[in-house]
This record gives sequence, structure tokens and C-alpha cells, in this order.
Amino acid sequence: MKIGVFFGGKSPEHDVSIITGQLIISSLKKSGHDVVPIYLDKTGAWFIDSALGTLSFFKEVGIDERLQKCGRYNIDLDLSKNKIVFKKTGLFGKTIEIELAFPAFHGMNGEDGTIQGLFEIFNIPYVGCEVAASAVAMDKILTKQLYQALNIPTTKFIYFSEADWNNNKNGLIEQCEKLQYPVFVKPPKLGSSIGISRANNRQELEFSIEVVFNYGERALVEAAVLNLKDLTCAIIGTADPIASLVQESRFESDFFNYEEKYLNDGGTQLGNAQKGLIIPADLDVETTLQIQTMAKKIFIQFGCSGIARVDFLYDSFSKNLFANEINPLPGTVYHHLWQASGIELPVLIEKLIVFAKERHQNKNKYTYGFNSDILKFATSSKLKGGKIVSN
Ligand SMILES: Nc1ncnc2c1ncn2[C@@H]1O[C@H](COP(=O)(O)OP(=O)(O)O)[C@@H](O)[C@H]1O
Ligand SMILES: [Mg+2]
Repeated sequence: MKIGVFFGGKSPEHDVSIITGQLIISSLKKSGHDVVPIYLDKTGAWFIDSALGTLSFFKEVGIDERLQKCGRYNIDLDLSKNKIVFKKTGLFGKTIEIELAFPAFHGMNGEDGTIQGLFEIFNIPYVGCEVAASAVAMDKILTKQLYQALNIPTTKFIYFSEADWNNNKNGLIEQCEKLQYPVFVKPPKLGSSIGISRANNRQELEFSIEVVFNYGERALVEAAVLNLKDLTCAIIGTADPIASLVQESRFESDFFNYEEKYLNDGGTQLGNAQKGLIIPADLDVETTLQIQTMAKKIFIQFGCSGIARVDFLYDSFSKNLFANEINPLPGTVYHHLWQASGIELPVLIEKLIVFAKERHQNKNKYTYGFNSDILKFATSSKLKGGKIVSN
């Protein structure tokens, strides 16, 4: 099976995605798979070339010239059925086809259900969560609303649009202040802590909200968890998923920010900064089990499949636990946590491919056709100006 690994993308998490993509490509190659590296640049152009399957391609200077030498491809809509066929731009461009997709995108335009929709349309198996679960998980507001509906504890929050903010600044500030300082201000659809700040007073709150509106049209403001332990539990599987050990991520900054995640000492989120990674987290057995059980429940109830990581905020004094966000495609597939939990990277990747194939087979056993007489009774005289007019 030809496996296309998709990475890069139109997202602020472009560079993290390159790291995840390369990790997956090299693991698949080592296991003898036929891998096609598919890179989306920041403008959304697709490039395919075996040279794109090495990290040095992206690290060394002169990437623009190197990219020009790679083929630029577009999807051939005509030929893409039960596979995706890419056609090189230009006259008589060659074609490359893939039969299974392994998305390695993070954040918008890739982890949020958009690319998953493309895979659904072409009916090819793909790794990771489906459209709806990806879209909900990548929206922190929808995630928290679903937590509430499912009685899963989460921090108190409010959200509003830029238009609301411009119309009723004072009223909204008052509502935010009911949550009590400090509060966390977030763009609902980003990840990697981009655009997030902790506001300790009114001035910082207003500034943080203005910052968030540079990233999107809605802002999320939530009560802060004090005495924080930042905990996470990764999940893989389909109907009966399994949970990893619980990880605590430690950081020296105000909160788990971009630098701590990816830069300091090679990054905690990339599994490198050892002093920031406590695996298993220093928790009693009951709390650990509670987290693993809740993470599995969230995975199932949100309709996740393949892989996801569920993050928790834990107040180590009051012992209150709050479900935070869900990452449908955690950076580097969180292989360091799976390794600590007894699943090595090649095995993890293999499992993800098996889950993708299983889901695809399952999906295709359902019928999508429906014979109806509806067109027999529709007459053009009833259609006026594009609207169906009743008798
Ligand atoms: N309500 C909160 N209370 C305390 N810390 C928080 C809260 N929300 C977020 N944080 C801190 O900010 C970090 C990033 O927030 P998170 O919601 O996980 O966004 P992202 O998707 O960018 O990772 C968390 O890991 C945590 O350290
Ligand atoms: Mg997070």
C-alpha cells in the first residue's frame, strides 16, 4: 500500500508538523513501507518528492530553491476514487497515487477535520480522528460545551465574538472578572499555546483579548487552575481504546508556553526536555486511574478514533481535576509517552495504520444509497426563483 504522509500546511504549527511528518516518514521507511512524502507549504501549494522525506531538507538554508526543484502537484479530481492521484503541474506531468493517508498536520487546516473531509470524499483510509471529532476537538469552545453536556469537569469559562467585544466591552469585562483573576485568555482554534495569555488584572485582560482577535473572531476566557499540575494522557484505538501512562509536564514560565513546549532543552512537547517530563506523573493510583478512565471516556464520547491526547489541569492542593483540551493529532504522535508505556514507535505507527484500515472497511459496509420517488412528484412549475413553492 502506498502511504502518503501529509505535513507542513497552512497553520501556525507548520514547523512542528514538519518534525512530526519526518518522524512518521522515517519510521514507515524503516518498517519497509512504500512512503510518499507530501508537503504543503505555507501558501497551500503541494510538493511531492522523495527529497522531502529528510529533516535536513527543511533545516538547511536555501529551502525555496530546493522546493522549486521538487515537483508541484495538484490533485487529479477525475482519477481520485478510492485513492488520491496527484498530477505534476505542467504539460504531461507525471502522476503519483496514494492508497492510505497519514496526516501529520497540527492545528488549523489539517488537524481540524478539513483535510479529513478530503480523504472522506476520495474514500481512502486515513490515520486518526474523523471529520466531526477533529473539528470539535480543535475548537476549545465546542470542546468545553460538550464536556458540560457530558458532565465532565472543566474550568468555568465565557466566550464572545469580536463584534460582541466592540459593542459591549464593559459588560464583557465584568463577566470575565466574575471568573476572578488570574484568567486565561485563548484563541479557541489554535494550539501550541500560540496567542494564549494569563491576565492578572483588567489592563492585561483587555490587552490579551485584543491579541486573541488577531487570530480569529472568537475569544475564550477561563478561570485559572491554581497549584497547577499540567497532565496528559494519550489514547489509541477504536471502539475499545487503550490509555498511556499519565504524563506531567513541568515548566518554569507562567504557563506551558511555546518556548517550553518546543524550544527549551529541545522541547517538552517533542519528548526531549527530560527535566520537564515526569512519566508516570507523581499521583496516587486512584487519581491516575481517574485520569485514564476520563481520557478514554472523552475519546469515545467525542467520537475520536486512531489517536488523540487528552490534557488535564489538576489543582494539587484542592485535588480538583479539570479536562482541558483534546489534541486529535499530538505532535510527534507523542511517541515518547507511548514508548514509556511499552509501545515503541514502529509498533505504534503500525497500529495506527491498522486502525485506519479497519475504520475504512467498517465505513464502506454501510449503504449510502437511498431509492426514493421524490423526483417523480417534483414539478418544475413548483420551483420559482430557486425555491420550492408549496401548493
Ligand atoms: N484554565 C487554566 N488554568 C491554568 N493554566 C491554564 C489554563 N488554561 C491553560 N493553561 C495553561 O496554558 C497551557 C496552554 O493552554 P491550552 O488550553 O492547553 O492550549 P494549547 O492548545 O495552546 O496547548 C496549558 O498547558 C496550561 O499550562
Ligand atoms: Mg495544551
